[in-house]
Amino acid sequence: GGGARARIDRVLFREEALAAKVRELAERIRQDYAGAVGAGAGRAPLTVVGILKGAFVFTADLVRALGALEVPLQVDFMAVSSYGSATQTSGIIRILKDLDRPIRGQHVLLIEDIVDTGLTLRYLREHLMAQDPASLKACVLLDKPERRVVDVPVEYVGFTIPDEFVVGYGIDYAEQFRYLPYIACVRLEG
Ligand code: PRP
Ligand code: MN
Ligand code: MG
Repeated sequence: GGGARARIDRVLFREEALAAKVRELAERIRQDYAGAVGAGAGRAPLTVVGILKGAFVFTADLVRALGALEVPLQVDFMAVSSYGSATQTSGIIRILKDLDRPIRGQHVLLIEDIVDTGLTLRYLREHLMAQDPASLKACVLLDKPERRVVDVPVEYVGFTIPDEFVVGYGIDYAEQFRYLPYIACVRLEG
């Protein structure tokens, strides 16, 4: 804590826009996984892996949207951190909490709030692929391509955004603002 201060500059995505995007993503996911997930011949369970802390709100909304479309799934979480309370990535990803259950043979959908340099997502994809899932895809609410350092596939993207500090809907600036129901740009002060 302490150090840099920030305040909300302008709203980028209102609650309604986020809810509409979540429904749209859920519908695409439902179609893509139809016939592949659940019980029965040739099917495997779908496990949604939310990446804490940033993706906690998006994951909660997306799994309920999938549930409303009757997509059967399980939920697990990993907690990783590369930024800590800093605003620049350290490039070193630490696993603070790993999966609770094995994902071997399952369809895994990794849920992230944002892909920036791509270092976190690349690390997570390698970590999960090493556990031999039936498939692995990533669903990311925000994509900031200007900041990319490593190439990493992202199968589902909510919004592509310019290189600005964003907060809210789970996303923090130095651990602040995660609780905002909308996504906003912040202005740094001092
Ligand atoms: C943020 C964000 C992503 C990652 C994206 O997490 O939630 O997980 O950084 O950045 P990258 O593409 O440059 O790796 P952070 O490390 O801040 O942890 P948090 O989710 O707990 O806020
Ligand atoms: Mn994160
Ligand atoms: Mg963070």
